[in-house]
Amino acid sequence: MQAELEQIETEALTELKVVNDLRELESLRIKYFGRKGQLTTVMRGMRKLSKEERPIVGKLANEVRTNITAAFDRVTETLNQRAREQQLAAEAVDITLPGRRPRIGKKHPITQTFDRIQEIFRGMGFQVAEGPEIEHEYYNFDALNTPAEHPARDLHDTFYIANELVLRTHTSPVQVRVMEKQKPPVRIIVPGKVYRLDYDISHTPMFHQVEGLLVDHQVTFSELKGVLYSFARQMFGEMTRVRFRPGFFPFTEPSAEIDISCTVCGGKGCRTCSRTGWLEILGAGSVHPNVFRYVNYDPEQITGFAFGMGVDRIAMLRFGITDLRLIFENDMRFAQQF
Ligand code: PHE
Repeated sequence: MQAELEQIETEALTELKVVNDLRELESLRIKYFGRKGQLTTVMRGMRKLSKEERPIVGKLANEVRTNITAAFDRVTETLNQRAREQQLAAEAVDITLPGRRPRIGKKHPITQTFDRIQEIFRGMGFQVAEGPEIEHEYYNFDALNTPAEHPARDLHDTFYIANELVLRTHTSPVQVRVMEKQKPPVRIIVPGKVYRLDYDISHTPMFHQVEGLLVDHQVTFSELKGVLYSFARQMFGEMTRVRFRPGFFPFTEPSAEIDISCTVCGGKGCRTCSRTGWLEILGAGSVHPNVFRYVNYDPEQITGFAFGMGVDRIAMLRFGITDLRLIFENDMRFAQQF
C-alpha cells in the first residue's frame, strides 16, 4: 500500500506538470480525489489494515495528499494567471493608434445654398424675415395685385388646403406681411419653402425660394440691377454676366426675368443651358403701386423693388446636380457627396 501511495504521488505530480488548461486539471482532480478516485480508494482501503500499520500508512497517505493538493493549487494558480494574461492581451487597447473620428453630419446642399445667399445679402444690409407656409389667399394673391379672376392665379398650380387657405406658391406674401407691420425703409430677404403642383426632372411639389424686398423713398430700378449684379458675381464668380429680360408679374411693374451666363459653359452653349448660354435664376421688378396701397404705403412717396429666386436651381448649378428630385430623396450615397 505504501508503494502504491508513492506511485500515485509520482504519477500525479508528473501528470500535473503537463496540464494545459482548467478543464484538464478538473479531470485530474476527479481521477485522484473523486469518489472513485485513486487516492480516495486507497484511503478507503486503510480500514482493512492492522492497528500497527494504520498510523504509518495513514501518515504517508496524508503527506501524499498534502503534496498532491499543493501541486494542484500551484497549477491552478498558474493556469488562472495565464488565462488573465490572455484576456488582457485580447482586450488590450493600443493607445498609440490614432483615434476613430466620429462621423460628423453636414448641412444639406439646399441649406448650404440658403446660408450662402443669406450671407451675401446680409453683406448688403438685408435682414432675414419669415412667414407661414400655410397662407391666406389674400396674402398669396389678392394683396399681391392678383385678384380672383386674374390669369396669373392659373400659372401657379396651387394646393388649396381649405377655404381661402393655400400652401403658399411663392415667398412674395411675406413682402405684404412685413410691410403691413413696418414703415419704410424695408430691406429684407425671405428664405422659405413654397409649393406647386408639379413633379418632373426639374420640378418638385415643394421647393425653395428666397424673396428680396427693398422699399424706401426714391428707390430706383438701377439699384435693383446693382444689387442683383453684385449677388450674381458673389454667388457664381466674378466672370458671371447678368441679363435682364422683360417679364411679367402682377405685383411688379416693370418686371424682369434675370439670367446669368451659364456656369457650366461660360456662355458658349451646352446641355445645362439648352445651348442658349444663359440660365434663368430670378424674377424681379419694381413693386407695383397697388401692392403699396394694400399695405397703406403712399405710392407717390415710396418706391421699391422685389425679387424672387429659386434656391433649388441655384443649388443644382452650384453642386452640378442634374436631377432635382435627388435633392429630396435623402439617399445617403447622394447626401454624402456634399
Ligand atoms: N414670386 C415670383 C415667383 O414665384 C418671383 C418674384 C418675386 C417676381 C418678386 C418678382 C418679384 O415666380
